[in-house]
Amino acid sequence: MEVLSVASEVYPLIKTGGLADVAGALPGALTSHSVSMRTLIPGYPSVMEKLSGGRVVKELDDLFGVPAKLIAARVEGLDVIVIDAPVLYDRPGNPYVSPDGWDWPDNWKRFAALGWVAAELAMGLVEGYRPQVLHCHDWQAGLAPAYIKFSASPDIKTVMTIHNIAFKGFFSADIFGQLRLPPEAFGVGGVEYYGGVSFLKSGMECADYVTTVSPNYADEIRTPQFGMGLEGLLNGRAETVSGILNGIDLTAWDPTTDKALAQNFSANTINLRQANKQAVVEKFGLDGVDGPLFCVVSRLTDQKGMDLLLQVVDGLVDLGGRLAVLGSGEGYLEDGFRHQSALHPGKVSIFNGYDEDLSHLMQGGADAIVIPSRFEPCGLTQLYGLRYGCVPVVSRIGGLADTVIDANPAALAAEVATGVVFDPNSAQALYDAIRKTVSLYGDSKIWKKIQRRGMKADVSWETSAARYADLYASITGLKNNDDS
Ligand code: ADP
Ligand code: GLC
Repeated sequence: MEVLSVASEVYPLIKTGGLADVAGALPGALTSHSVSMRTLIPGYPSVMEKLSGGRVVKELDDLFGVPAKLIAARVEGLDVIVIDAPVLYDRPGNPYVSPDGWDWPDNWKRFAALGWVAAELAMGLVEGYRPQVLHCHDWQAGLAPAYIKFSASPDIKTVMTIHNIAFKGFFSADIFGQLRLPPEAFGVGGVEYYGGVSFLKSGMECADYVTTVSPNYADEIRTPQFGMGLEGLLNGRAETVSGILNGIDLTAWDPTTDKALAQNFSANTINLRQANKQAVVEKFGLDGVDGPLFCVVSRLTDQKGMDLLLQVVDGLVDLGGRLAVLGSGEGYLEDGFRHQSALHPGKVSIFNGYDEDLSHLMQGGADAIVIPSRFEPCGLTQLYGLRYGCVPVVSRIGGLADTVIDANPAALAAEVATGVVFDPNSAQALYDAIRKTVSLYGDSKIWKKIQRRGMKADVSWETSAARYADLYASITGLKNNDDS
């Protein structure tokens, strides 16, 4: 089975969040299920830098008004097709915003081009390459299913995966005329959404199958509270929507070999983590390793509940905890953590930025990772936390609820607890969860059991890769030659 995956980020070529991790790990996880997956990705500067030995498989004179080359390459273990269109993608900043933080005004065109190329590839643009399934991730790839649906080859099978329903790729209706879609595509059955164009809605409406990244989030987004205006669409096609839980790349995230750690360790040598705690404390300028060290590795946004955490920092410190924050995002939250770190020198510290290696060290050294999200399609940092013995403290929401078992008395007695799960999502409940975590930490026998259990939890792609392979097989009617 040949699948073309379409994503705006893929680790390790370009990453701003969990989408990249998923798009980067899934192809490898699918190989043992007889699925060969290529990834179509825009040629951002960081992607072009890493390309070597690629082959131009197609030249386009007019990709939404600009010249482009499609380059096929094998890079960092991934089979990729890169859209080399400097006018669209050779820009500073991250894939979506300029260095001063504004969305690029032509984002609609940059990602319409991604969807258009994806659809054309699926329909035979490059001789000798004909994937059976087009797998589109998030709004940036959301036009591809519409280009297929309104083409002469509407039978090509498409899957749309929602990583975050909050980002709809919504633009004014003015762009429609330039999308290269027939007039009938501007309607309920196409790209139209509340009088404008939504790339995500387009994908969710036009794809043969819709997935999201945890079973719980798949249920949640069928309700007005979490569906953010798309719950009606999802309920209307409930038979072809499901949640497939994300896994993590067990090679990139392996505490026994991870080079970003000061000290490697395993579930059997958990005491060695202390050297990593020492390293985190030093990097963040915190005073000593006594007491529980909480960390955050996150986009600093409302989604992630970072305003709730800010409200309980005083309490966390009063309980004897310390807090190390790695992240960037909304200005008021960055300022809030800077302010807290000035109020609590040696106890609270923020590294404002993005640092992949530091994120690994924190998972390997902090005692607990706090994730008080308001909504969380899956969440990966709690999975990294489990694998690295950094106990997740999470809200009972989305994929967090699907992956962490609360240390309540029954779970402790049954020896299944892997973290602390709280609800409702309020500052008070978060404070109570932190207090509970501090108390569990105080009993080192119980604490180590929770850590070890987390480290042994199955956070691999194994089960979920099989589910994607089955899905591709069922929508195409092709047998999945999986003998694993
Ligand atoms: P989301 O995709 O919603 O941001 P996830 O938990 O799915 O949330 O994935 C976030 C990914 O980005 C994880 O791999 C996490 O380690 C990483 N990450 C987030 N912020 C930072 C940061 N400031 N520095 C390094 N890695 C980060
Ligand atoms: C999104 C979600 C996050 C999920 C990630 C990868 O960014 O916010 O919950 O883990 O995608 O699927």
